[in-house]
Amino acid sequence: MKKFIDRILIRSEEIIAIPTIVRAKNNLRSGNHPRAEILAACIEEWLEKEFSNEEKIWLEKINTQWKKLQRQDTIIEIDDFGAGVPSSSNGVKKNVTISTISVQNSRSQHWLSLMFKLMCALRPATVLELGTCIGVSGMYCAAGLKLNTTGTLVTIEGAKAYASVAKENFTALALNNVIQYTGRFSDVLPDILKDHQPIDFVFIDGHHDGEATVSYFEQLLPFLSRSAWLMFDDISWSRSMRRAWKTIAEDKRVSFSANLSLIGMCYIEQ
Ligand SMILES: C[S@@+](CC[C@H](N)C(=O)[O-])C[C@H]1O[C@@H](n2cnc3c(N)ncnc32)[C@H](O)[C@@H]1O
Repeated sequence: MKKFIDRILIRSEEIIAIPTIVRAKNNLRSGNHPRAEILAACIEEWLEKEFSNEEKIWLEKINTQWKKLQRQDTIIEIDDFGAGVPSSSNGVKKNVTISTISVQNSRSQHWLSLMFKLMCALRPATVLELGTCIGVSGMYCAAGLKLNTTGTLVTIEGAKAYASVAKENFTALALNNVIQYTGRFSDVLPDILKDHQPIDFVFIDGHHDGEATVSYFEQLLPFLSRSAWLMFDDISWSRSMRRAWKTIAEDKRVSFSANLSLIGMCYIEQ
């Protein structure tokens, strides 16, 4: 029953988001920026569910792997470093089942197929993800890069137990274009940025705290390539995240942005 209700909630969230996404797509087109046009075309194809045969094969493979996770009742112990956990603490210990996490911590298949499409359309060489969790978004991202036959996903996760489940998922799909790091963002990000710069695409999907989000934005800027994309998840999740998104979208260093309701995209040219 709970799974059924969750599915209805996810579907309604998707339907409610459509007018905002269509508005963002039209705004991108009216901006007359060639990169904005690429993003708009990608969003349009995604909304129309236009996928090539090769893309469909990958999406099916990921879906099969994700369904396996949804059936796994194994309990894992994790250290939570997310929003609400004080920066002075060593994280909060929690016991969770893989099946619960596979549904609760990731966006729906529909949203993650946008991530996959973006990889194919924007062809980033280096992608950085903050918040691997058990690797669901990572599978979409790395699969898109695989299809491009180039590109690496660098992904960071604070909870070791999540990272090891993610590793199993990447291995199961032969996604050998992923470099995983474990550690708290505040501890490991400085060295990772130095080692993997310049970064073409960043997916910020961990620590959904407004202040932390703006500070990651500032921290990332010097390490971006001359033409880079930032994707923020949960921009309307809380008042502080809404405020953070507004600050980032209005920042003079951002060439253009798109509010896709739950997700925000920025393009930075420097
Ligand atoms: C929403 S989940 C990521 C979901 C994943 N990107 C996906 O779509 O499949 C956020 C993840 O970020 C991790 N996280 C949150 N705050 C963190 C921090 N400060 N340092 C390291 N990891 C953190 C959490 O442990 C959690 O696994």
